[in-house]
Parts: sequence; structure tokens; C-alpha cells
Amino acid sequence: MGLSLVDQFHAHPIIFPVTAIFVLWITRLIVLRLVQERKIQALGGHCATRHSFPFGLPFVYGAVQAGRTYKDFSFWLHNFNKFGNRSNPYNIEFRLLSSIRIVQTADPENIKAILATQFHDFGKGDKFNEDFHDFLGDSIFTTDGQRWQESRQLIRPQFIKDRVSDLQTFESHAQILVPLLCPKSGHTVDAASLFFRYTLDAATDFLLGESVDSLRNPTVRFSHAFAEVQRIQSQLGRAGPMKFMINTKTFHEGLKVMDEWIQPIIERTLRLSPEELEKKGKTDEGYTFLHSLASYTRDRTVLRDQLVAVLLAGRDTTACTLSWMFYHLSLQPQTVSRLRTEILDRVGTNTEPTYEDLKSLKFLSATINETLRLYPIVPFNVRMALKDTTLPRGGGPDGNQPMGVLKGTPVGYSPLIMQRREDIYPPVSEKFPHHMEFAPERWEHWTPKAWTYIPFNGGPRICVGQQFALTEIAYTTVRILQKYSRVECRMDEKPSEQSEIVLQPHGGVHVAFFE
Ligand code: HEM
Repeated sequence: MGLSLVDQFHAHPIIFPVTAIFVLWITRLIVLRLVQERKIQALGGHCATRHSFPFGLPFVYGAVQAGRTYKDFSFWLHNFNKFGNRSNPYNIEFRLLSSIRIVQTADPENIKAILATQFHDFGKGDKFNEDFHDFLGDSIFTTDGQRWQESRQLIRPQFIKDRVSDLQTFESHAQILVPLLCPKSGHTVDAASLFFRYTLDAATDFLLGESVDSLRNPTVRFSHAFAEVQRIQSQLGRAGPMKFMINTKTFHEGLKVMDEWIQPIIERTLRLSPEELEKKGKTDEGYTFLHSLASYTRDRTVLRDQLVAVLLAGRDTTACTLSWMFYHLSLQPQTVSRLRTEILDRVGTNTEPTYEDLKSLKFLSATINETLRLYPIVPFNVRMALKDTTLPRGGGPDGNQPMGVLKGTPVGYSPLIMQRREDIYPPVSEKFPHHMEFAPERWEHWTPKAWTYIPFNGGPRICVGQQFALTEIAYTTVRILQKYSRVECRMDEKPSEQSEIVLQPHGGVHVAFFE
């Protein structure tokens, strides 16, 4: 005869406490879930749920695999289409490890709520701050509320028109970039790699008054260290609770290399007295972002963190936009020739363009807008609910009613999926080519509906460097197309869309330039 339950407990005394803990844990989960459920229902209910057994792990595995193979766009689109509500598929939710609810949206109404109308209900959250702390400290990127507001007030004045319209920094680096694009007529170059080095040089020059000079010295330690830190940071962000498994040796080495370069420049600036800084500001001679920051704060950590944050924000974003744009230009000689005609008519073949020239080049603006429509450079983003709240869409039988979101719920939003949604565009016509086609001319007859075009985000946290970025991209393009009349694609396939922090052409953009 077998042992009774009581006998078994006597034979293995450990079984009892383990079973008790397990039962308590399950009971706690069930009670928490019921409480959560009641609150969600009271706030508006759920959106369509993507079930994935067990514990949401297959779905997370799929998302990680999609990232690894550069198929994020098709993965997320498939999930919205397959699991979303039929009448409005662009809101779905899933559960991770049973207790963590994650909402994903590509619905303009919800994105508007998260970024603008319900701005105070959402933020980056403490976990984001913690995950990014070694790299970006308590800077504009990693804080909410009062701390974010202080950073924003510190940084915003550096991007007023006067500073942005000073084109000298772009000119001196464009002088190095333009010949490198064509070492020999028809020679294949990786334009993306050159754009990354160019924007790093221009950004360090603008921010610190010293360029890392990576166009001239491709092996410079700073740029490798910066790239490595970003690579590991992105892995840490994705790994979440499993981040202890990631080897961070090169991450910490990279941070050290970056600081070894930045700190002496900060020290030199801090040796200037407030009066000297003020005098420098008036003459404008060699006056940089760092000088300006140093006149508000002399805290070394604040200076370092804000500098690195703006460097991160400003560098890859602009390089990626230029890269995708020149990829498409290399396939569309008619667009290059139209751009060139516009540029030569206004600026001529040699003259440096002025800020006013750049603003008047309408077809060039349309080409940049079109690039950012198809390639919003921050393709996937996330905000944390800072309190129990309701989003306007996703709930109800048709998915168009409000949805409840509890404090601590991460809400992922994707400008990439949203800006490629067919239903937000007019029907295809002579004036409006298919929405997946690269067609700058569509902007001559069309303006996007509010909140359907948000490459720079929107609301109070809109990109602070938007004008700087648009000016840099326009300036660089003018200088390139003044010199070269033709760009030829030297790739058999379109580069994959690598979305880590930014949307990057994987493997580069291999093209040839001709005078
Ligand atoms: C095409 C180029 C660019 C694009 C598409 C872009 C896009 C964005 C986006 C989507 C955000 C919001 C991120 C978030 O809150 O999660 C952002 C924020 C920011 N961007 Fe840009 N950006 C570009 C260039 C630049 C440049 C050149 C700079 C500075 C030199 C810059 C500085 C910033 C800063 C400081 C923030 C943080 C704003 C805040 O949180 O208040 N960006 N950018």
C-alpha cells in the first residue's frame, strides 16, 4: 500500500513548507490578478490580447528573434493584424510571466494621449532611469517631472535659431566629407559609415568645441567606444530582468574611454570664470554648447551626463536619415536631378548655402520629410504609466472605446508601424503614389493628418534638436549635390532595417558618386 499524504509529509519534511509557499504564491498571484482585473475594467477594459503560452515567453522569444534578424517591422505588423481587433487592429496587449501586462499601440489617438494630452500620466519611469544610469545619468533622456523639466530648460536655449543657423560647423566637416564620398569617379563607398563619422565630428565640435575627427582618423578610440557602449546598452534594455547575463566589460571600458576624452574639455571650460564665460558668449568666438551649459551649472556630473545625452540624440539620428535618403536617391536619378536643379538655381555650384537658402528649398524639405515618413529614426519607443489611467482607444467590442491602463504598465508605441499604415493616407492616385513608395513629390499636394507623422515625437517632450537636425541634413545634402550630379546604387538588395535604438540600414549604404 502507498504512503498517505500525512505519511509523505513526515517522510520528506521539506515538502510541506515548499508546497505551502507555492500555494501562497499562486493564491497571491490570483488575488492580485483579480484586483488588477477589476481596476482595468473600471478604467475602460482591455484591448485585444495576444495570448502566448507559457508565460508569454514564445512571444518574447519571437520579438527578440525578429530584432536579431532585422524583421521587427514585419513581426509587429503581423501581430497587430493577426491578434488585433478587426475594426481597429493597432492596439494589442500581452502578459509576461503572467503578472506583467504590456500594451503595444500604433494608434495615433493613443500616441497623442501618451505624448501630449495625458503627458503627466506617462513617463520614462524609474526602471528606464536605472537601466540607462551608467551611460546617461540623470540627464534629459532618463528623467521625468521636475528633473526632466530642469534639463529641458538647461538645454533648450542652446537650440534657438541663432545657434542653429550658425552653419560654420557643418561647413568645416562637409569640406572633409564631400571628397571622401568619391575618392575616384564611380568608386563604391559605404555612405552610411561616412555619414556616421561626419555627424559624430560635427556633433562633438558643436557641443564641445573639439571634433573627434573620425572622418580623418577612422580608427579613433572615441567612436568605437561610443558605438560599443550603445550596443551593450541596447542589449541591457532588451534583456530586462535577465540583464545580469550580459557581459558589460567592454561597456565599462567604453564609458572610460569616452570620459577620458570628455572630462579634460569640461575641466578646461570650468577653469573659465563666470565673467569670462559671459564675455565669450558675447563675442561668440569659439562659444559652444558646453560653454553655455557651464554658465548655468558647474556640476561636472550634470555637464557630462547632459553632453553625452545630446551627443547620443543628435548623432546617429541624423546619420541614419542621411543614409536612408541617399539609399533612395541612388535608385531615383530623376529625384536627384530635380533636387540638383532646385539647389543650383538658388545657391549655385560652389557658394555655401545660408540658413535662408536652406529654408527656401522646398523640394529638398519634401525629400527629407519623405525619408522620415518611411524611416522614423526612433521606430519603437515606450512610456510607463505613472498612475492608473485610461487611453482613448483599444477597448470595447470594436477596439475604438477607451482602455484601462494601470500604474507601472509599459506602453510601447511605434511611429514606424503607424507611419506605414495604409489607412492613414489618401487613396492612391496620380498625385499620391502608394504609401510604401519613396515619393517626395507627394508632399507638394498633401499634409499629414495631426499625429500621423511624428518622427520627432510630439508634445512637451518633442525633439529639442529638430531644427538643428533638419538644418544639418539639408546643409549636407546641398554641399553633396552641388558637387555630384549622380548617385548610383551598388547593392543588389535593399539594406535590412536594423532597429536597435535607431532605425539603421544594416550593412551600410553602398553607392557611387559621380561629378
Ligand atoms: C533626424 C534627426 C532626429 C530625429 C528623427 C530625432 C527624434 C527624436 C525623438 C523621436 C525624440 C523623443 C525621444 C523620447 O522622448 O523617447 C527625440 C528627443 C530628443 N532629441 Fe532628437 N532627433 C533627431 C535629431 C536630434 C539632434 C540633432 C539633437 C541634438 C543635437 C537631438 C536632441 C534631442 C534631445 C535632447 C531629446 C530629448 C528631449 C526630451 O526628452 O525633452 N535630436 N528626438
